Amino acid sequence: MADKNAIPKNREWNPDFVGIGVFIIICLMSKANQNQQDVSDETQQVCKDDGIIVMKNITKRFDHLLVLDNVSLAIEAGKTTVVIGPSGCGKTVLIKHMIALLRPSSGEIYFKGDRIDNLSENQLSKIRTSYGFLFQGGALFDSLNVKENILFPVKQHYKVTNHSGSDDLVKMKLAMVGMDGFQNYYPDKLSGGQKKRVALARAIALNPEVILYDEPTTGLDPIRADIINELILKLKSGLGHTSVVVTHDMKSAYKVGDRIIMLHHGKIIADGTAEHIKNHPHPKVQQFINGEVSEDDLAVLRMSGSDLRSQFLPRDFEE
Ligand SMILES: Nc1ncnc2c1ncn2[C@@H]1O[C@H](COP(=O)(O)OP(=O)(O)OP(=O)(O)O)[C@@H](O)[C@H]1O
Ligand SMILES: [Mg+2]
Repeated sequence: MADKNAIPKNREWNPDFVGIGVFIIICLMSKANQNQQDVSDETQQVCKDDGIIVMKNITKRFDHLLVLDNVSLAIEAGKTTVVIGPSGCGKTVLIKHMIALLRPSSGEIYFKGDRIDNLSENQLSKIRTSYGFLFQGGALFDSLNVKENILFPVKQHYKVTNHSGSDDLVKMKLAMVGMDGFQNYYPDKLSGGQKKRVALARAIALNPEVILYDEPTTGLDPIRADIINELILKLKSGLGHTSVVVTHDMKSAYKVGDRIIMLHHGKIIADGTAEHIKNHPHPKVQQFINGEVSEDDLAVLRMSGSDLRSQFLPRDFEE
């Protein structure tokens, strides 16, 4: 008679249990993988038909400095995408690739489905008329007055013969940014906020489909910064522009952004709505959006100057 307590020599695995076990392990692995993606790299798989601008696997190196590390990104038409991230993380480098002012070390860039990163400057010239670029710092030409600054991109791309037409164009663009009447002013007679608005008028001179704004509110007081935010919103709702806004200013990012992307160490570590970013689990995202100094930053400060007082002379403290 068989002993009921004896351990069977060849215990058979129940196929149902094996199946359930494998299923649970796959679920756990996929969840872990998803969490890992949440906190390390939110770069999504994009194909060139996904957006008006598509960057596929973009890597950019300056000699040994790796600035963009296999970034893939699709910019949705008619929406405002905001790019945030610490100083020097590659935000300006990223948007300069979108207009092929910089070429990638590897990867591909598409505008409306056509590859642009491998085009000659001549071929790019036509494509660039679809873009307006508000450079970091405004970058108006000091030797040109406001009118000449605004007409600069127009003359670059088209032969301007009709002077009254160009006057009308300048007037209309300046009116859009609340600066009509300043046509004959030179940049050194304008405040920082006025310069930004003129630079914005210049960026929209060619009725671009896409506007790239690099730090549009930096250096402005909160009221003037908000005027720029309102202008960005107005251009989007009125003319249906696609916008990409690089900023450090989280108030501006939340106000104008349909989508916010954070760059860190050459990768996109967060990508989503303002709510997604506010609740993002990555500590670097939280530090950045809350303006907190990390232990790493403090360590760099400690290493770079052990005693700050030694950097000043006694006369710096004299009354
Ligand atoms: N033309 C260039 N040649 C060499 N290095 C460059 C060039 N342009 C940018 N870099 C380097 O690439 C890195 C990223 O620069 P980038 O201007 O994109 O930073 P950023 O995120 O826009 O910073 P900020 O917020 O201060 O404007 C920096 O280390 C910068 O020195
Ligand atoms: Mg920059």
